[in-house]
Amino acid sequence: MSKDNIETSKGIILAGGSGTRLNPITFASCKQLLPVYDKPMIYYPISTLMLAGIREIMIITTPHDMEQFQRLLGDGSQFGVHFEYRQQPSPDGLAQAFLIAEDWIDDSSCALALGDNLIFSDQLGGLLRKAAKQHEGATVFAYQVRDPERYGVVSFNDSGRALEIVEKPQDPKSNWAVTGLYFYDKNVTKLAKKVKPSARGELEITDLNQMYLDSELLHVERLGAGCAWLDAGTPDSLMQAGNFVQTIQSRQGMLVGSPEEVAFRMGYINETQLLKQVNKVKKTELGRMLSSLVKHQ
Ligand code: G1P
Repeated sequence: MSKDNIETSKGIILAGGSGTRLNPITFASCKQLLPVYDKPMIYYPISTLMLAGIREIMIITTPHDMEQFQRLLGDGSQFGVHFEYRQQPSPDGLAQAFLIAEDWIDDSSCALALGDNLIFSDQLGGLLRKAAKQHEGATVFAYQVRDPERYGVVSFNDSGRALEIVEKPQDPKSNWAVTGLYFYDKNVTKLAKKVKPSARGELEITDLNQMYLDSELLHVERLGAGCAWLDAGTPDSLMQAGNFVQTIQSRQGMLVGSPEEVAFRMGYINETQLLKQVNKVKKTELGRMLSSLVKHQ
């Protein structure tokens, strides 16, 4: 396999922060371990990275929460991937992830998925694998929202070319929010080191993306109406995300955000390994849905 193969690309899941917008729920529990319907929140971004073909995954979390993530996820072999764990002592911004992971990223391309973001579309696999295969530049995904001022906002010119990305603008120039899923080439660490703390004291991912944009190396993939992007960081969005997953799973019988399912479909684990996972959740509807994968292949 060539070194350029997607198998060599890596991915980080950032599951730090204090989840203040979910207080008091997060006084004693870590946000990314809260349930989104029938699975812990972090299962969703894990599934997304795995669907992109990424099997080397680093989970960055707070010193306080790391042990719980390790208990839940182990070394990743149950999903046919490898998990690495690191701490972010204080929440100093998303771009800091690349500084924390610098030696681990080494010379690879690297994706970043926010631990509270959920993306769902039946077309997603192809888009993600294309982004993970790209060797030069970066790819971000934009999604139309009613409240762009809560996010990084990308504006476009008349021919659809991305012009600028602004973090939480008071007066947004478009309603296209940048989602919490980013794919970068191997220069990401070098560039992340150039990011200066913003007015809110954080190393903003938006500044990193703007650097790629300034060098004409940022690809902005617009996600259409057939796609759902939810961030589960507030009581309302957490509830909406849970309702969404429940609706798709119970109505269509399709699993959303199941690393076991992605692992099996992508060939990371075989039938025997899948059945071992099924056994752990055999009293649940999730277990029933996972075991039906074996029957329907
Ligand atoms: C972060 C990013 C923002 C992005 C959002 C997606 O915001 O800074 O650009 O649009 O994630 O969820 P935060 O969650 O830190 O408010």
